[in-house]
Amino acid sequence: MSATRPDLTDPFEIGGVPIANRVLLAPLAGIGNWFVRLQAKRHGAGLAVSEMVSSFALHYRNERTLRELLVLHPDEHPVSIQLFGHDAEVMRSGAEIAAAAGADLIDINMGCPVPKVRKTGAGAQLLRDPELALDLARAAREGSGLPVTVKLRSGISPGDRSGFDLAIRLAEEAGVSAIGFHPRAATKGHAGKPDYALTRELADRLDVPVIVSGGLSSAEAARRAYEESGADAVMIARGSLGNPWVFEELTGRREGPPSQAEVASELLWVVDRAEEHLGAERAHRYLRKFYPWYFEGIGASKQVRDELQRSADLNRARELIEAARTPVGVA
Ligand SMILES: Cc1cc2nc3c(=O)[nH]c(=O)nc-3n(C[C@H](O)[C@H](O)[C@H](O)COP(=O)(O)O)c2cc1C
Repeated sequence: MSATRPDLTDPFEIGGVPIANRVLLAPLAGIGNWFVRLQAKRHGAGLAVSEMVSSFALHYRNERTLRELLVLHPDEHPVSIQLFGHDAEVMRSGAEIAAAAGADLIDINMGCPVPKVRKTGAGAQLLRDPELALDLARAAREGSGLPVTVKLRSGISPGDRSGFDLAIRLAEEAGVSAIGFHPRAATKGHAGKPDYALTRELADRLDVPVIVSGGLSSAEAARRAYEESGADAVMIARGSLGNPWVFEELTGRREGPPSQAEVASELLWVVDRAEEHLGAERAHRYLRKFYPWYFEGIGASKQVRDELQRSADLNRARELIEAARTPVGVA
């Protein structure tokens, strides 16, 4: 490690926007709404990126997208809104709407490997059309007036470096202010060891920050990836699910894991925020995917796990979590 290498706790800037530290929440589709981002910020993340939002849905002012995906909490700044799309004019308009909603940064998704997205020419498919990718980035900058970042894969299939090459062009020709680099081929989905050596090559080559994503399943894995990759910052994705304390560990605010009571309180906070966001009925359904992430931490028995998943409504779920707050025999 060179003497000048910053710590994860050191601040940095993306296109002039100050970021308090180098530990970020990655974009997570269907998950990274305002309260998940706020949770990451409460626990120390320097920046949270939203779940991907369709530039078309913004452009055509889809009511549900505006109401549910473009809500920002006053305490979550700085925040980046991630857009996806395949049309520069629509991207310009979507980015303008995201900026008006209060985004501090715009991120463009050029990494999504899902066929439904790639088929439209968006996500990782943009690696096959670098000129369009550059146009999208320029249009997002012009439309929003904000710094624009791009998150992308290393390539489409193993051995392909088209994402690496595109990242350089985006920074040098389209004025992109940072690159989120997920050094796995799109065809590999989220499996396999990310190529941190390639990330190092990119970080050495670019003047703008490179933020590494992939394989950051724990604080230890994130620290290792930060060193191995030479990146300017790390982006925690699956490692943050049910474990916002990973941000505290990485920013020096905590050493050990949270107690069962802390996890239960945190989950109750999530339940309350989800109800605020979606109303009790939809929140109850939405949270079913969240509960298992917290099961281990709240020490939930098989019976409690099953009951929580089958619970009739949000208040019953709250009772079950509340009961798990105090380990048996301690009360
Ligand atoms: C459920 C899920 C949803 C995701 N949604 C997005 C997304 O909307 N935009 C994006 O750029 N990446 C998305 N990703 C990719 C992550 O941001 C991250 O790059 C990937 O999970 C690798 O990091 P990890 O191995 O530490 O989880 C998603 C990943 C998962 C597991």
